[in-house]
Amino acid sequence: MRFIIKSYGCQMNSYDSQRMEDILLEAGHRRANSVENARLIIFNTCCIREKASEKLFSDLGRVRVLMNRSSEKFLIAVTGCVAQFQAKDVLRRAPWVNIVLGPQDIQQIAAKVAESLEKRASGKLSSTTLNAKDKFKHLSGQFFHRNIAEFITIQEGCNNFCTYCVVPYARGREFSRSAAEIIQEAERLMLLGVKEITLLGQNVNAYAGEGPDGERWSLARLLAELAQLKGLERLRYVTSHPRYVDEGIAEAHEKIGVLAPSLHLPIQSGSNRVLERMNRKYTVEEYLKCVQTLRKHRPDMAFSSDFIVGFPGETEEDFQQTIELIEKVMFSQAYSFRYSPRPGTAAATMKDQVPEALKAKRLRILQDLLNEQQNAFNRGFVGKQVKVLFTKKGRHKNQITGRSEYAQAVTVCDSGISIGDMARVEVTGILSHSLIGKVVR
Ligand code: SAH
Ligand code: SF4
Ligand code: F3S
Repeated sequence: MRFIIKSYGCQMNSYDSQRMEDILLEAGHRRANSVENARLIIFNTCCIREKASEKLFSDLGRVRVLMNRSSEKFLIAVTGCVAQFQAKDVLRRAPWVNIVLGPQDIQQIAAKVAESLEKRASGKLSSTTLNAKDKFKHLSGQFFHRNIAEFITIQEGCNNFCTYCVVPYARGREFSRSAAEIIQEAERLMLLGVKEITLLGQNVNAYAGEGPDGERWSLARLLAELAQLKGLERLRYVTSHPRYVDEGIAEAHEKIGVLAPSLHLPIQSGSNRVLERMNRKYTVEEYLKCVQTLRKHRPDMAFSSDFIVGFPGETEEDFQQTIELIEKVMFSQAYSFRYSPRPGTAAATMKDQVPEALKAKRLRILQDLLNEQQNAFNRGFVGKQVKVLFTKKGRHKNQITGRSEYAQAVTVCDSGISIGDMARVEVTGILSHSLIGKVVR
């Protein structure tokens, strides 16, 4: 059957989409190049904010129109976080959906498709077990296409229950894969020519998987082991929680050559009062200490972060404290969002919800400052050299793009460079969110 997977949300979803693709290809299905040409349409969804969830429902509406216009039969699957968090809504609002699989049940995709095809008339099939262990046990034996830079999920789920967040409900409790399983997966990626690996987890630095020696391995221990892989040029990991940043990871950044000197460390707010109401379990001072510890071991460390504005009860003073925090850290990059109330989370029913207009105003101010910092960070590289791993062709002839060790997008025009090359680039200028330069020979 020709299939297409529409992937939304975070990198953990991209990873899951790729695994579903492997499983379907292994079962003899083929990729379609557009929704129109597909007969099996899979939406791998995100529900982190209301807008993300609603995107699914509008896409399902569009697919319904397509189905009505066509004489062909379609199978529609909704997988991922909306499938788990709003399974009932999906079936009620879009009764034309055939298959619903939570993020820890995606390994069942080919089996559920086969079952649906057998009993097409009756068939609503769903599985939302939240059992991550099972998921990794049953992933495909064959890897099909891989890029130069790839992901490996090493940890899933979350026990933190930040009061705004759906992840603990959508992905379940924290689970770490065994080190042996991860190393084996990385070795298989190396055989396919992968050169950069990003380890993924909702709290990736809380990783505590079983090591081959029977001990619990930390993320730092796992990184040291993976760094030995032949052919691996760069290692990254996301997303880290400030609560678990320790000296061990800072030392890893000092000692492990292939480990990129950049860290995504979401702070969310610069006000201790707000952080406490968010249940983040750290203070602004502790966050700054993390930054300091890492910079002590790796002075060139680049920090990126996530921010939420307009959390319930956020005052003008709280917001000002966020601005002050940003000014202290100097971020290389950041994502910022208006607070979006999610059903079933503690913050959704808190008093003092902030009006949308005020959230929008604060977001604009915050984003202006963060953009300015990103530009200042990038400007600081003009005339200097960065090490770029080239991963894709640019729009123009001979143009090729990659990422620096600090995660900046870098473009050069150079016919002597191919995808997969790592090269020193002298930065000659900056664009709005990227660098341009020339290869040093
Ligand atoms: N595990 C990561 C974040 C996962 S969600 C961490 O703890 O930092 C990615 C980002 O989405 C969060 O960092 C947060 O900034 C944002 N986010 C999560 N829930 C949100 C909500 N209800 N409204 C707005 N932004 C939200
Ligand atoms: Fe969500 Fe908080 Fe867990 Fe991150 S740590 S996934 S924000 S509950
Ligand atoms: Fe979205 Fe689920 Fe990731 S809610 S951000 S796809 S963990």
